[in-house]
Amino acid sequence: MKNKKVAVTGGLGFIGSHLVEALCQENEVVIVDNESSGSIKNINHLEFDNISLEFGDITEINLKKIFDGCDYVFHHAAMASVPESVANPLKCNLVNVTGILKVLLAARDNEVKKVVFASSAAVYGDCNNLPLSEDIPIKSVSPYALSKAAGEMYCQLFTDIYQLPTISLRYFNVFGPRQDPNSQYASVIPHFISNILNEKKPVIFGDGEQSRDFIYVKHIVNANLSACQTDQTGSFNIATGKRTTINQLVPIINRTLGKSIDPIYDEPRPGDVKHSMADVSKAKLLGFNPSTNFFEELSETVRWFVENQRN
Ligand SMILES: NC(=O)c1ccc[n+]([C@@H]2O[C@H](COP(=O)([O-])OP(=O)(O)OC[C@H]3O[C@@H](n4cnc5c(N)ncnc54)[C@H](O)[C@@H]3O)[C@@H](O)[C@H]2O)c1
Repeated sequence: MKNKKVAVTGGLGFIGSHLVEALCQENEVVIVDNESSGSIKNINHLEFDNISLEFGDITEINLKKIFDGCDYVFHHAAMASVPESVANPLKCNLVNVTGILKVLLAARDNEVKKVVFASSAAVYGDCNNLPLSEDIPIKSVSPYALSKAAGEMYCQLFTDIYQLPTISLRYFNVFGPRQDPNSQYASVIPHFISNILNEKKPVIFGDGEQSRDFIYVKHIVNANLSACQTDQTGSFNIATGKRTTINQLVPIINRTLGKSIDPIYDEPRPGDVKHSMADVSKAKLLGFNPSTNFFEELSETVRWFVENQRN
């Protein structure tokens, strides 16, 4: 993509900042973010010539004005944590459901060419019919999952009744540089890296044989770019189609850091699904078929944490 004007909501966050980094090379990028979980530090390394920042809450800021002249909108701003949504469902609904509705209305009013929505594998709930394919009926087991399902439905509705092209990308477990290890709701990979870097034993809930479809953030960026360049609309899994157990993470992190720290095992957490893995055949319609190397990608992530001392 070249010479376009694009908006990235949540562009100061983990995934959003990688997307901004790719887009700003040859496009004009407007970020909308309130730094509730993201940080300006995530884009400090970028040249600012092509980037502008609209600081504010997506539910309050004038998105219609901000999206003026935009070709594409990448909607990543969200309350992005399942436990936080359980603790505060009303806020989750405001940010994630009212938020996407405001994004879609502003995109429609500006005749944006396409809205790409960061959805989630959470929409599959506790379904254990693996691999998870897009035609499985969705089931919400958290306010977060419900908000993502509602977001997808709003996207489809806007495509159907207002002819606004939209696409929902169901990310599985994303990892990579700049993922926050310090938040109360940190994901397992940055949390483990931070623990092992600090000589602390990582805590594994259950027997550690639970598995996830971990996908490197650079593939997520490519999926977003591909999603704009096709006429496809609807919902697509964005994942690797492979799974890795939680037990497998610790030795890879140890090896990259030259350490040998054993994990501690604790009681399984209620509500955690045992296994998750995507059927990635539909994503090929987007031209998305990444060649992945989990070991190398996790090692690269660990090295980034060492170099950037986010521990
Ligand atoms: N990380 C994953 O594994 C994963 C998996 C599935 C889906 N997703 C989705 O991808 C998107 C990005 O996730 P992430 O991991 O980068 O999370 P993140 O928390 O790092 O990024 C979210 C960004 O949105 C901003 N934001 C939050 N509420 C806002 C509001 N009301 N107004 C303006 N900005 C606001 C935050 O400040 C942050 O910069 C989210 O929509 C998330 O639900 C992430």
